Amino acid sequence: MVGMFSKFSKSASVKSVTGAKAASAKPVAGTKATSAKSTGAGKSARTSGTGRSAQVTAPIASEHENPTLSVRNVSRVFKNKTGREVRALDNASLEMKGGEVVAIVGPSGCGKSTLLRMVAGLDFPDEGTLEYCGEPIKGPHYDRGLVFQDAALCDWLTVSENIAFGLKARKVYKGNEHKVTELIERMGLEGFEDSYPYQISGGMASRTALARTFIQNPGLVLLDEPLSALDAFTRANIQDQIVQMHLSTNAMFLLVTHDIEEAVYLSDRIVVMSARPGHIIGEVKIDLPHPRDRVSEEFVAKRREVMEYFEAPRAL
Ligand SMILES: Nc1ncnc2c1ncn2[C@@H]1O[C@H](COP(=O)(O)OP(=O)(O)O)[C@@H](O)[C@H]1O
Ligand SMILES: [Mg+2]
Repeated sequence: MVGMFSKFSKSASVKSVTGAKAASAKPVAGTKATSAKSTGAGKSARTSGTGRSAQVTAPIASEHENPTLSVRNVSRVFKNKTGREVRALDNASLEMKGGEVVAIVGPSGCGKSTLLRMVAGLDFPDEGTLEYCGEPIKGPHYDRGLVFQDAALCDWLTVSENIAFGLKARKVYKGNEHKVTELIERMGLEGFEDSYPYQISGGMASRTALARTFIQNPGLVLLDEPLSALDAFTRANIQDQIVQMHLSTNAMFLLVTHDIEEAVYLSDRIVVMSARPGHIIGEVKIDLPHPRDRVSEEFVAKRREVMEYFEAPRAL
Protein backbone atom coordinates (compact mmCIF):
# COMPACT_ATOMS: atom_id res chain seq x y z
CA MET A 1 0.00 0.00 0.00
CA VAL A 2 2.84 2.35 0.84
CA GLY A 3 4.47 1.67 -2.52
CA MET A 4 1.30 2.50 -4.35
CA PHE A 5 0.86 5.65 -2.29
CA SER A 6 4.31 6.93 -3.16
CA LYS A 7 3.85 6.05 -6.81
CA PHE A 8 0.85 8.32 -7.07
CA SER A 9 2.20 11.12 -4.92
CA LYS A 10 5.34 11.20 -7.02
CA SER A 11 3.31 11.74 -10.13
CA ALA A 12 1.15 14.34 -8.40
CA SER A 13 4.21 16.30 -7.35
CA VAL A 14 5.44 16.39 -10.93
CA LYS A 15 2.17 18.03 -11.74
CA SER A 16 2.50 20.55 -8.94
CA VAL A 17 5.74 21.80 -10.41
CA THR A 18 3.97 22.54 -13.65
CA GLY A 19 1.37 24.56 -11.81
CA ALA A 20 -2.38 24.46 -12.15
CA LYS A 21 -4.49 23.11 -14.93
CA ALA A 22 -3.11 24.17 -18.26
CA ALA A 23 -3.78 21.45 -20.82
CA SER A 24 -0.13 21.37 -21.70
CA ALA A 25 0.66 20.52 -18.09
CA LYS A 26 -1.27 17.28 -18.39
CA PRO A 27 1.40 14.69 -18.94
CA VAL A 28 -0.95 12.55 -20.96
CA ALA A 29 -2.79 15.15 -23.00
CA GLY A 30 -1.38 13.95 -26.28
CA THR A 31 -2.84 10.48 -25.93
CA LYS A 32 -6.50 11.34 -25.54
CA ALA A 33 -8.83 8.55 -26.57
CA THR A 34 -10.97 10.87 -28.64
CA SER A 35 -8.23 12.03 -30.92
CA ALA A 36 -6.82 8.53 -31.14
CA LYS A 37 -10.30 7.13 -31.66
CA SER A 38 -11.07 9.39 -34.57
CA THR A 39 -7.99 8.18 -36.35
CA GLY A 40 -8.53 4.58 -35.31
CA ALA A 41 -5.08 4.58 -33.76
CA GLY A 42 -5.99 4.61 -30.08
CA LYS A 43 -5.94 0.91 -29.38
CA SER A 44 -2.76 0.16 -31.23
CA ALA A 45 -1.05 3.15 -29.62
CA ARG A 46 -1.78 1.68 -26.23
CA THR A 47 -1.19 -1.96 -26.94
CA SER A 48 1.76 -2.07 -29.27
CA GLY A 49 5.39 -1.09 -29.03
CA THR A 50 6.60 -0.79 -25.49
CA GLY A 51 4.18 -3.40 -24.18
CA ARG A 52 2.76 -3.67 -20.71
CA SER A 53 4.66 -0.87 -19.01
CA ALA A 54 3.35 1.52 -21.65
CA GLN A 55 -0.16 0.34 -20.87
CA VAL A 56 0.29 0.94 -17.18
CA THR A 57 1.42 4.50 -17.66
CA ALA A 58 -1.18 5.14 -20.37
CA PRO A 59 -3.97 7.52 -19.44
CA ILE A 60 -7.47 6.63 -18.52
CA ALA A 61 -8.81 9.10 -21.03
CA SER A 62 -12.27 10.50 -21.49
CA GLU A 63 -14.32 9.50 -24.49
CA HIS A 64 -15.11 13.19 -24.89
CA GLU A 65 -12.06 15.37 -25.23
CA ASN A 66 -13.83 18.39 -23.84
CA PRO A 67 -16.84 17.21 -21.85
CA THR A 68 -19.28 19.75 -20.43
CA LEU A 69 -22.12 19.61 -17.94
CA SER A 70 -24.89 22.15 -17.74
CA VAL A 71 -27.47 22.05 -14.93
CA ARG A 72 -29.95 24.90 -15.29
CA ASN A 73 -32.55 25.95 -12.74
CA VAL A 74 -33.23 22.38 -11.65
CA SER A 75 -35.86 21.64 -9.00
CA ARG A 76 -37.11 18.29 -7.72
CA VAL A 77 -40.18 17.69 -5.58
CA PHE A 78 -40.89 14.27 -4.06
CA LYS A 79 -44.23 13.08 -2.74
CA ASN A 80 -44.19 10.84 0.30
CA LYS A 81 -46.75 8.09 1.02
CA THR A 82 -49.25 10.48 2.58
CA GLY A 83 -49.04 12.76 -0.45
CA ARG A 84 -47.05 15.43 1.36
CA GLU A 85 -44.60 17.17 -0.92
CA VAL A 86 -40.90 17.43 -0.12
CA ARG A 87 -39.01 19.98 -2.18
CA ALA A 88 -35.61 18.30 -2.25
CA LEU A 89 -33.83 20.64 -4.61
CA ASP A 90 -34.67 24.21 -5.51
CA ASN A 91 -33.52 26.04 -8.62
CA ALA A 92 -29.98 24.60 -8.72
CA SER A 93 -27.64 25.61 -11.54
CA LEU A 94 -24.12 24.38 -12.22
CA GLU A 95 -21.80 24.57 -15.22
CA MET A 96 -18.72 22.37 -15.56
CA LYS A 97 -16.05 21.89 -18.19
CA GLY A 98 -13.45 19.25 -18.97
CA GLY A 99 -10.74 18.71 -16.38
CA GLU A 100 -12.66 20.32 -13.53
CA VAL A 101 -13.30 18.84 -10.11
CA VAL A 102 -16.29 20.33 -8.37
CA ALA A 103 -17.30 19.38 -4.84
CA ILE A 104 -20.79 19.89 -3.48
CA VAL A 105 -21.11 20.36 0.27
CA GLY A 106 -24.27 20.94 2.25
CA PRO A 107 -26.32 19.67 5.18
CA SER A 108 -27.76 16.17 5.12
CA GLY A 109 -31.01 15.98 3.15
CA CYS A 110 -30.39 19.11 1.05
CA GLY A 111 -30.66 17.25 -2.25
CA LYS A 112 -27.02 16.49 -3.07
CA SER A 113 -27.66 12.84 -3.96
CA THR A 114 -30.82 13.84 -5.80
CA LEU A 115 -28.78 16.21 -7.96
CA LEU A 116 -26.13 13.55 -8.66
CA ARG A 117 -28.78 10.96 -9.50
CA MET A 118 -30.30 13.36 -12.03
CA VAL A 119 -26.90 14.01 -13.62
CA ALA A 120 -26.41 10.22 -13.73
CA GLY A 121 -29.77 9.94 -15.53
CA LEU A 122 -31.34 7.87 -12.73
CA ASP A 123 -33.90 10.53 -11.81
CA PHE A 124 -35.43 13.53 -13.59
CA PRO A 125 -36.16 17.13 -12.62
CA ASP A 126 -39.61 18.63 -12.16
CA GLU A 127 -38.26 21.93 -13.40
CA GLY A 128 -35.11 22.92 -15.26
CA THR A 129 -32.78 21.14 -17.65
CA LEU A 130 -29.66 18.98 -17.49
CA GLU A 131 -27.30 18.65 -20.44
CA TYR A 132 -24.15 16.60 -20.86
CA CYS A 133 -21.91 17.60 -23.78
CA GLY A 134 -24.74 19.70 -25.16
CA GLU A 135 -27.30 16.84 -25.13
CA PRO A 136 -30.22 16.52 -22.70
CA ILE A 137 -29.63 13.80 -20.09
CA LYS A 138 -32.24 11.15 -20.81
CA GLY A 139 -30.95 8.18 -18.84
CA PRO A 140 -27.83 6.47 -17.51
CA HIS A 141 -24.76 6.20 -19.71
CA TYR A 142 -21.34 4.70 -19.13
CA ASP A 143 -19.77 8.06 -20.00
CA ARG A 144 -21.28 9.41 -16.76
CA GLY A 145 -20.05 6.98 -14.10
CA LEU A 146 -21.50 7.05 -10.59
CA VAL A 147 -19.69 5.77 -7.50
CA PHE A 148 -21.78 5.45 -4.34
CA GLN A 149 -20.80 5.50 -0.68
CA ASP A 150 -21.58 1.80 -0.57
CA ALA A 151 -19.22 0.34 -3.17
CA ALA A 152 -22.16 -1.84 -4.34
CA LEU A 153 -19.96 -4.50 -5.91
CA CYS A 154 -21.47 -7.67 -7.34
CA ASP A 155 -20.98 -10.27 -4.58
CA TRP A 156 -20.77 -13.15 -7.03
CA LEU A 157 -17.96 -11.60 -9.06
CA THR A 158 -14.27 -11.33 -8.19
CA VAL A 159 -12.43 -8.01 -8.01
CA SER A 160 -11.24 -8.43 -11.62
CA GLU A 161 -14.67 -9.46 -12.82
CA ASN A 162 -16.29 -6.51 -11.06
CA ILE A 163 -13.84 -4.13 -12.73
CA ALA A 164 -14.39 -5.75 -16.14
CA PHE A 165 -18.18 -5.89 -15.72
CA GLY A 166 -19.08 -2.72 -17.64
CA LEU A 167 -16.78 -3.51 -20.57
CA LYS A 168 -18.27 -7.01 -20.82
CA ALA A 169 -21.81 -5.61 -20.67
CA ARG A 170 -20.90 -3.29 -23.56
CA LYS A 171 -19.25 -6.22 -25.37
CA VAL A 172 -15.98 -4.31 -25.63
CA TYR A 173 -13.97 -6.39 -23.16
CA LYS A 174 -12.12 -8.34 -25.83
CA GLY A 175 -8.99 -6.42 -26.76
CA ASN A 176 -9.26 -4.29 -23.61
CA GLU A 177 -8.31 -6.94 -21.05
CA HIS A 178 -5.11 -5.00 -20.33
CA LYS A 179 -7.18 -2.16 -18.90
CA VAL A 180 -8.24 -4.40 -16.02
CA THR A 181 -4.59 -5.20 -15.27
CA GLU A 182 -3.70 -1.53 -15.53
CA LEU A 183 -6.40 -0.45 -13.11
CA ILE A 184 -5.64 -3.23 -10.67
CA GLU A 185 -2.08 -1.93 -10.60
CA ARG A 186 -3.03 1.74 -10.38
CA MET A 187 -5.44 1.05 -7.55
CA GLY A 188 -3.05 -1.17 -5.62
CA LEU A 189 -5.26 -4.23 -5.85
CA GLU A 190 -2.54 -6.63 -6.99
CA GLY A 191 -2.88 -10.01 -5.34
CA PHE A 192 -6.63 -9.57 -4.83
CA GLU A 193 -7.72 -9.98 -8.46
CA ASP A 194 -9.48 -13.27 -7.70
CA SER A 195 -10.91 -12.32 -4.31
CA TYR A 196 -14.64 -11.91 -3.82
CA PRO A 197 -16.04 -8.72 -2.23
CA TYR A 198 -16.54 -10.41 1.17
CA GLN A 199 -12.82 -11.25 1.21
CA ILE A 200 -11.53 -7.65 0.84
CA SER A 201 -11.42 -4.57 3.07
CA GLY A 202 -13.70 -1.54 2.75
CA GLY A 203 -10.85 0.47 1.23
CA MET A 204 -10.23 -2.19 -1.39
CA ALA A 205 -13.95 -2.34 -2.15
CA SER A 206 -13.92 1.45 -2.71
CA ARG A 207 -10.89 1.17 -4.95
CA THR A 208 -12.57 -1.63 -6.90
CA ALA A 209 -15.69 0.52 -7.32
CA LEU A 210 -13.58 3.44 -8.56
CA ALA A 211 -11.69 1.15 -10.96
CA ARG A 212 -15.00 -0.25 -12.24
CA THR A 213 -16.02 3.31 -13.09
CA PHE A 214 -12.66 4.55 -14.40
CA ILE A 215 -12.33 1.61 -16.80
CA GLN A 216 -15.22 3.01 -18.81
CA ASN A 217 -13.19 6.18 -19.50
CA PRO A 218 -16.09 8.36 -18.38
CA GLY A 219 -16.14 12.03 -19.31
CA LEU A 220 -17.88 12.67 -16.01
CA VAL A 221 -17.21 10.85 -12.76
CA LEU A 222 -19.93 11.28 -10.15
CA LEU A 223 -18.80 10.53 -6.62
CA ASP A 224 -21.49 10.40 -3.92
CA GLU A 225 -19.61 10.34 -0.61
CA PRO A 226 -17.60 7.36 -1.84
CA LEU A 227 -15.05 7.54 0.97
CA SER A 228 -17.16 8.50 3.95
CA ALA A 229 -17.19 5.04 5.51
CA LEU A 230 -13.41 4.64 5.43
CA ASP A 231 -10.76 5.23 8.07
CA ALA A 232 -8.65 8.39 7.74
CA PHE A 233 -5.52 6.71 6.34
CA THR A 234 -7.38 4.71 3.70
CA ARG A 235 -9.38 7.78 2.78
CA ALA A 236 -6.25 9.93 2.32
CA ASN A 237 -4.75 7.20 0.18
CA ILE A 238 -7.77 6.95 -2.12
CA GLN A 239 -8.04 10.74 -2.29
CA ASP A 240 -4.53 10.75 -3.73
CA GLN A 241 -5.59 8.19 -6.31
CA ILE A 242 -8.55 10.35 -7.28
CA VAL A 243 -6.21 13.37 -7.64
CA GLN A 244 -3.95 11.24 -9.80
CA MET A 245 -6.86 10.13 -11.99
CA HIS A 246 -8.01 13.72 -12.24
CA LEU A 247 -4.56 15.00 -13.25
CA SER A 248 -4.17 12.32 -15.93
CA THR A 249 -7.47 12.92 -17.74
CA ASN A 250 -9.66 15.72 -18.98
CA ALA A 251 -12.69 14.13 -17.34
CA MET A 252 -14.93 16.13 -15.01
CA PHE A 253 -15.36 14.99 -11.42
CA LEU A 254 -18.47 15.97 -9.48
CA LEU A 255 -18.05 14.99 -5.86
CA VAL A 256 -20.55 15.09 -3.02
CA THR A 257 -18.96 15.08 0.39
CA HIS A 258 -19.74 16.22 3.92
CA ASP A 259 -16.01 16.39 4.59
CA ILE A 260 -14.86 19.97 3.92
CA GLU A 261 -11.20 18.99 4.14
CA GLU A 262 -11.78 16.37 1.44
CA ALA A 263 -13.54 18.98 -0.72
CA VAL A 264 -10.63 21.43 -0.37
CA TYR A 265 -8.07 18.68 -0.99
CA LEU A 266 -9.67 17.41 -4.19
CA SER A 267 -11.56 20.14 -5.95
CA ASP A 268 -11.12 23.22 -8.10
CA ARG A 269 -14.39 24.71 -6.83
CA ILE A 270 -16.67 23.99 -3.92
CA VAL A 271 -20.36 24.58 -4.40
CA VAL A 272 -22.13 25.21 -1.09
CA MET A 273 -25.78 24.22 -0.68
CA SER A 274 -28.33 25.37 1.87
CA ALA A 275 -30.50 23.09 4.00
CA ARG A 276 -33.63 21.69 2.29
CA PRO A 277 -35.01 22.80 -0.05
CA GLY A 278 -31.45 22.74 -1.27
CA HIS A 279 -30.28 25.64 -3.32
CA ILE A 280 -26.80 26.86 -4.10
CA ILE A 281 -25.75 29.60 -1.70
CA GLY A 282 -22.14 30.10 -2.70
CA GLU A 283 -19.03 28.91 -4.38
CA VAL A 284 -15.42 28.83 -3.17
CA LYS A 285 -12.61 28.61 -5.70
CA ILE A 286 -9.69 26.38 -4.65
CA ASP A 287 -6.76 27.49 -6.77
CA LEU A 288 -4.04 25.62 -4.86
CA PRO A 289 -1.59 23.37 -6.76
CA HIS A 290 -1.51 19.59 -6.23
CA PRO A 291 -0.46 17.84 -4.10
CA ARG A 292 -2.07 20.02 -1.46
CA ASP A 293 -0.73 20.48 2.01
CA ARG A 294 -3.64 19.99 4.40
CA VAL A 295 -2.04 22.05 7.13
CA SER A 296 -0.77 24.95 5.05
CA GLU A 297 -2.13 28.40 5.82
CA GLU A 298 -3.79 28.65 2.39
CA PHE A 299 -5.50 25.27 2.80
CA VAL A 300 -6.81 26.09 6.27
CA ALA A 301 -8.02 29.49 5.01
CA LYS A 302 -10.06 27.76 2.28
CA ARG A 303 -11.59 25.40 4.85
CA ARG A 304 -12.52 28.38 6.97
CA GLU A 305 -14.06 30.15 3.97
CA VAL A 306 -16.35 27.16 3.36
CA MET A 307 -17.14 26.70 7.07
CA GLU A 308 -18.29 30.32 7.30
CA TYR A 309 -21.30 29.47 5.16
CA PHE A 310 -22.47 27.04 7.81
CA GLU A 311 -21.56 29.09 10.85
CA ALA A 312 -23.37 32.26 9.80
CA PRO A 313 -27.12 31.64 10.37
CA ARG A 314 -28.10 34.21 7.73
CA ALA A 315 -26.31 32.14 5.08
CA LEU A 316 -28.57 29.12 5.70
N1 LIG B 1 -37.23 8.83 -3.90
C1 LIG B 1 -37.55 9.70 -2.94
N2 LIG B 1 -38.81 9.78 -2.48
C2 LIG B 1 -39.15 10.68 -1.53
N3 LIG B 1 -38.29 11.54 -0.95
C3 LIG B 1 -37.02 11.49 -1.37
C4 LIG B 1 -36.57 10.58 -2.38
N4 LIG B 1 -35.24 10.78 -2.58
C5 LIG B 1 -34.87 11.76 -1.74
N5 LIG B 1 -35.94 12.19 -1.02
C6 LIG B 1 -35.91 13.28 -0.03
O1 LIG B 1 -35.30 14.40 -0.65
C7 LIG B 1 -34.47 15.07 0.29
C8 LIG B 1 -33.07 15.16 -0.27
O2 LIG B 1 -32.49 13.85 -0.29
P1 LIG B 1 -30.99 13.58 -0.76
O3 LIG B 1 -30.83 14.09 -2.14
O4 LIG B 1 -30.73 12.13 -0.54
O5 LIG B 1 -30.16 14.47 0.26
P2 LIG B 1 -28.59 14.51 0.58
O6 LIG B 1 -27.90 13.60 -0.38
O7 LIG B 1 -28.21 15.94 0.43
O8 LIG B 1 -28.45 14.06 2.01
C9 LIG B 1 -34.56 14.29 1.59
O9 LIG B 1 -35.51 14.92 2.41
C10 LIG B 1 -35.04 12.95 1.16
O10 LIG B 1 -35.76 12.32 2.17
MG1 LIG C 1 -26.77 11.88 -0.07
